[in-house]
Amino acid sequence: MEALGFTYHKIFDMTSKPVSDSLTVMTEIVLPNDTNNLNNLFGGQLLSWMDRCAAIAAHRHCGRIVVTASVNNVSFQRPIPQGSIVTLEARVSRTFNSSLEIFVDVFLEANAKGKRLQANEAIYTFVAVDQLGNPIQVPPVVPETDIEKKRYDGALRRKQLALILAGKMDPNNATELRALFFPDEEKK
Ligand SMILES: CC(C)(COP(=O)(O)OP(=O)(O)OC[C@H]1O[C@@H](n2cnc3c(N)ncnc32)[C@H](O)[C@@H]1OP(=O)(O)O)[C@@H](O)C(=O)NCCC(=O)NCCS
Repeated sequence: MEALGFTYHKIFDMTSKPVSDSLTVMTEIVLPNDTNNLNNLFGGQLLSWMDRCAAIAAHRHCGRIVVTASVNNVSFQRPIPQGSIVTLEARVSRTFNSSLEIFVDVFLEANAKGKRLQANEAIYTFVAVDQLGNPIQVPPVVPETDIEKKRYDGALRRKQLALILAGKMDPNNATELRALFFPDEEKK
């Protein structure tokens, strides 16, 4: 393992890590080949960039092979014109057993004053797998800032929603979601 440039200990380290350890920043320029008929960035191209960025963040956290399990939310808030410089920032927001939730924030650097604008946000779920594709455990993540804590706190209900939509969870078992929609239920 040393010969590969990393240690066995590092790969299988299950100690918790701060969110910031997984930060992955990618910068791209929007070329004509990346655009739609309005000369704005094609959504599918952005999804591909976001998926790569999120996959690297997930891998940085757990040191494992990771696969995209679901794209939980993507909001295209503003068009991104050809020629724009686009910066993507991905971070692990929460881990569970084998799955990791990743937030990707997309910023547009089109302003001449250098002021960046948030153009998009996406939330991905990755699953760490072994060489045979079987899910394996990942280390916990520790949120530190207010935004990291907010994203961490909301992750369980997003996971439950993704599993319900994928037909992998009975809505009756979605405790976090039920607490959100039926707050009085527990008091009965
Ligand atoms: C993702 C994958 C490994 C999950 O395998 P599985 O047999 O369903 O495994 P499990 O049911 O044990 O679930 C494993 C984890 O994935 C999570 N998961 C599975 N499907 C999910 C979904 N649709 N959304 C969110 N999380 C999901 C489970 O909640 C579980 O998380 P946890 O261990 O942290 O609690 C498997 O479905 C797979 O390989 N999918 C293809 C991935 C891929 O090729 N992606 C690229 C697409 S081009």
